[in-house]
Amino acid sequence: MGSPTFPTWMADTQGRVEAALAHHLPGADSIPARLHEAMRYATLGGGKRVRPLLVFAAGELTDAQPETLATVACAVEMIHAYSLAHDDLPCMDNDILRRGRPTCHIEFDESTALLVGDSLQTLAFELLAGQKLADPARQLEMIALLAHASGSRGMAGGQAIDLAAVGTPLSQPELELMHALKTGALIRAAVLLGALAGTPLNAEERSNLDRFAKRAGLLFQVVDDILDCTASTATLGKTAGKDQAAEKPTYISLLGLEAARTYADELRNDALATLSIFGERATRLTQLADFICHRQF
Ligand code: IPE
Ligand code: IPE
Ligand code: MG
Ligand code: MG
Ligand code: MG
Repeated sequence: MGSPTFPTWMADTQGRVEAALAHHLPGADSIPARLHEAMRYATLGGGKRVRPLLVFAAGELTDAQPETLATVACAVEMIHAYSLAHDDLPCMDNDILRRGRPTCHIEFDESTALLVGDSLQTLAFELLAGQKLADPARQLEMIALLAHASGSRGMAGGQAIDLAAVGTPLSQPELELMHALKTGALIRAAVLLGALAGTPLNAEERSNLDRFAKRAGLLFQVVDDILDCTASTATLGKTAGKDQAAEKPTYISLLGLEAARTYADELRNDALATLSIFGERATRLTQLADFICHRQF
């Protein structure tokens, strides 16, 4: 029996992650029921699950156990779902549509969406700290990595730069820093945590994997910006054309669409080149980098 095709592997992994998230999230009828219902609404039944897929793909480099990877994947996806619930709030991007459904604050209310974010964030760390995932030093490293990637020197910091830059043209290095933080940091963390869940990599492997993770993270946001101005709201399941309307700095506003596409290809090629030292163990990561580059939603 050969290994499954990429679409089969992706669907299987997404199914496994959905079941693990449903298991780890508090039940919708447990008190406070409305908050728990909203946490489940914001997390379950939607999304591409790219970060969990990266956790599992990176785990293949180090023979990590699927049960461990599922827990790590849930923690990373909870941080991501929290970031989306907050990103959509009126004080941030003020969006009404997410994953083909009303955003969390529209379906519930603003204070609930705020608390959903708070609660998903802490639940993510409860998961990472609440059971043995690796030897103690490595598990601490995983927790610290995810915390750093989520905070002011990671995702939240990138969101702050994003909001402060509305209507302000940024230079390419400034834009790159914003993207690396607001989206890249969590994608990088997904890759590194997945690998840390198994047997240790050597220094060269670790450095190559880190370069891959940084390139893949930047690539993800460049493609997000491209899709915002090329895809439809129906395909994306979120409001298309928001970036230009809101005068957000993006690669498209900086370089134009064609140059942004060329840049995405360069990032993909660079990301893939760093994986060559891993040989076949990196098949899923390679396929995911292609998926991130060529996705239509
Ligand atoms: C959207 O992320 C927000 C960004 C960080 C660019 P995704 O495109 O991964 O959203 P889902 O999880 O598939 O809905
Ligand atoms: C969101 O970037 C980044 C985070 C949620 C951290 P965007 O604002 O571009 O994401 P979308 O386009 O609304 O999904
Ligand atoms: Mg935003
Ligand atoms: Mg947004
Ligand atoms: Mg966007």
